[in-house]
Amino acid sequence: MALKADQIAVLVAAAREARRRAYAPYSKYTVGAAVLTASGSVHTGANVENAAYPSGMCAERVAVFEAVGRGEREIRAVVVATENGGAPCGACRQVLAEFGPEADVILVDGTGQISLQTNLRDLLPRAFRPEDLPRTEK
Ligand code: THU
Repeated sequence: MALKADQIAVLVAAAREARRRAYAPYSKYTVGAAVLTASGSVHTGANVENAAYPSGMCAERVAVFEAVGRGEREIRAVVVATENGGAPCGACRQVLAEFGPEADVILVDGTGQISLQTNLRDLLPRAFRPEDLPRTEK
């Protein structure tokens, strides 16, 4: 089912709010993400950097892991808020594909304007999926 305008507005506001909590003293690139689950709940995350650079984490994955940690397994949509309307990195696309292969993806810039409305299939064609793994014999 297509996202409704009021659902988009809620997600955009949540992602922009989450972005304000980003911890990005090294890159200065703050990101906020909000995911909508199949059950209708909204989960947010911001990027969290670290002095040991690779130990940081992207906003999208923080939001997805927060959702999954609360028992959600199906993601319908994600809104990502940045200054320049930038797109999710490859690792985040892969994590989103695990729980929302058909998810709507909306990018908003620093003014709250939507810079791109797309979906995960377009962002990550032929994603590696759980079904690609061999079945384990027990
Ligand atoms: N970042 C995200 O949070 N999401 C992305 O999809 C791209 C990159 C963060 C990671 C790092 O804290 C900063 O942006 C610069 O790469």
